[in-house]
Amino acid sequence: MKSVIAIDGPAGSGKGTIAKLVGKKLGYMYIDSGAIYRCVALLTIRNGIDINDEEKLCDIAKKMNVEFIDNKVFLDLEDVGVDIRSKEVSDIVSLVSKHKKLRDIIIEIERNYAKDKDIIMEGRDITTVVFPNAKYKFYLDADLNVRAKRRYEELIKRNIKITLEEVVDGISKRDYNDTHKEVGALIRTDEQIYINTTDVEIEEVVNKIIEVVRSE
Ligand code: DC
Repeated sequence: MKSVIAIDGPAGSGKGTIAKLVGKKLGYMYIDSGAIYRCVALLTIRNGIDINDEEKLCDIAKKMNVEFIDNKVFLDLEDVGVDIRSKEVSDIVSLVSKHKKLRDIIIEIERNYAKDKDIIMEGRDITTVVFPNAKYKFYLDADLNVRAKRRYEELIKRNIKITLEEVVDGISKRDYNDTHKEVGALIRTDEQIYINTTDVEIEEVVNKIIEVVRSE
């Protein structure tokens, strides 16, 4: 396995933006693990599959091919960057990600990315379950309203129609589901370096992570 930088944190904590920039500066491939769960959620919608049907979700996950190229997400060669951020997908993805067998398949997919490349991966269980032995582990956090505002601005930029209230509501529900899952829940541990990004410039957090990686 190559070198892994693992980052966990709730939605809107800035982990995506920050991981992308760190990856670019250090030459590590950036992997958005939430996007993999979102691809499964998108496929359930497109194929009319019940999100409680774990076997079917597993079938989908085993067959799908998710690639990260130039910070874009390709599902079976289709650029799904906009579709996986839709409200429909966001509303169900946390529920989709509850299934243990499905998570096991996705964990394999995630570990495969690190077989021949240095990677920086962000999500909810990356520091704890996917790469518990990663050399670098971070937990990024921020206040709910700041996270919602960031996510809202990101969605508007991508031409996704949504109100700030809907984003606050969606993120609070996802926070609850993500921290109360029986498997793969978002948790803080002593091994992670905790960074609260509420009042900190992105650049500052990026530099801090790079400093940690370079100092070891
Ligand atoms: O990072 P995101 O908000 O795009 O993630 C979408 C959902 O995917 C999130 O609500 C929970 C799930 N997820 C997960 O269970 N484990 C991960 N490592 C990443 C995401």
